[in-house]
Amino acid sequence: MQVMAIPEPVKGAPDWLPPDAAAFEAIERTFLDVAALAGYQRIRTPIFEHTEVFSRGVGASTDVVQKEMYTFADKGGRSLTLRPEGTAGVVRAALQAGVPRAGGLPVKYSYAGEYFRHERPQAGRQREFNQVGIEALGSDDPALDAEVVLLGWEALQRVGVRDLTLRMNSLGDREDRATYHDVLNAFLDDVENLPPDVQQRRHLNPLRAFDSKAPGMTAIMANAPLLIDHIGEEPREHHRTVVALLEGEGVPLSHDPSLVRGLDYYSRTTFEYQAGDLGAQNAVGGGGRYDGLAEDLGWSERFPGIGWALGVDRTLLAIKASGVDIPTTPRVDVFVAVADASLQSDAFALVTQLRRAGVASDLAFDGRSMKAQLKVADRSGARWTVIVGPDEAARGVVTVKDLDTGEQRESKRDEVAALLAAAATGREAAE
Ligand code: HAM
Repeated sequence: MQVMAIPEPVKGAPDWLPPDAAAFEAIERTFLDVAALAGYQRIRTPIFEHTEVFSRGVGASTDVVQKEMYTFADKGGRSLTLRPEGTAGVVRAALQAGVPRAGGLPVKYSYAGEYFRHERPQAGRQREFNQVGIEALGSDDPALDAEVVLLGWEALQRVGVRDLTLRMNSLGDREDRATYHDVLNAFLDDVENLPPDVQQRRHLNPLRAFDSKAPGMTAIMANAPLLIDHIGEEPREHHRTVVALLEGEGVPLSHDPSLVRGLDYYSRTTFEYQAGDLGAQNAVGGGGRYDGLAEDLGWSERFPGIGWALGVDRTLLAIKASGVDIPTTPRVDVFVAVADASLQSDAFALVTQLRRAGVASDLAFDGRSMKAQLKVADRSGARWTVIVGPDEAARGVVTVKDLDTGEQRESKRDEVAALLAAAATGREAAE
């Protein structure tokens, strides 16, 4: 037989095996549960979209659109893109469904899934990664901004992220930004040897100069005029209200006037959550208001929105880095072992009965020795082993061993499933 190499995983697209995959899902579930408590309902949108959803939605000046999208032509020659983020697709779906005109606003959505960006992979930065997000559409109320920011904060606390910090800024409205862009461009005009990435994008959006990783740019931008000094009274008041509501709930936020975020759709509130235990990629989530996004996508009227996305992969890394125990659940409660291969069909019938009664159970395969079966039972994390032996089978009984206490006793074969179901439920209740 020809020996072939096992295909490598795609660079930056990680596998998550047990028990990490379960921890991953537990994080996802907790984020979604926190959102559900505030009335956010699940929405599912496609993993790929027409490219214009992102080029118009996320913005032409961004790294995401300029360098990081997985874009391809389908068989009909249409340009499609694997979603690099969730907001543009969710807003597109809401507009398609006519949500702005249906009343009952704001609508509140939550989502979870895979996202794709062609970035340079490193710890906490992947090409396929997972986010849980929320989007609240159709309201300008600053209390909604505060709700959104607080929910992300609480969700990250709830899964056990330590040393969490929250950075906030206001980007004002688009009209404010037009004046500020001139001010910032005038400042950039005076900088000698502006790096090519800034040169190239400053006319699309000079705010991108704040994100530049080019050497020396952070120091240069530390002296740049700040947007917060150029925003109008209304967005300023909006920001004050959001901050006051959050401070009223005891959220220790810090103001960061250089926080512009890497996506073009933001206006007014922007924020980022950072975890102390992560290195360079310490943003575990972020979001903001995007009051002009619906219009960028072609909606004829203003339809504001605000939301966040939390990075599930990074959150798991943060929890692991801080040494917090990730709770793992046993694979099954009951393991059925047979003393003789001729009894395998009875073991099969017994696990089926147990599973139908809601008890997680498993049995050995491949006709292994009793010793080997007990080893598998031990590794399964089961609390009880049921041993089906020929003598017992003849008497209509099985042996049940409690692996926690070592206690062993016989039970009637036709009663054992109900007995273990009751014991497993009792155990769950006690936990
Ligand atoms: P974002 O800041 O680009 O925002 O991504 C949110 C989070 O996703 C980041 O804080 C990070 O934890 C995670 N993330 C992003 N890129 C990667 C990557 N390459 N590898 C691992 N994790 C990553 C958004 O995506 C916006 N859609 C958030 C939003 C929702 N704004 C308003 N609504």
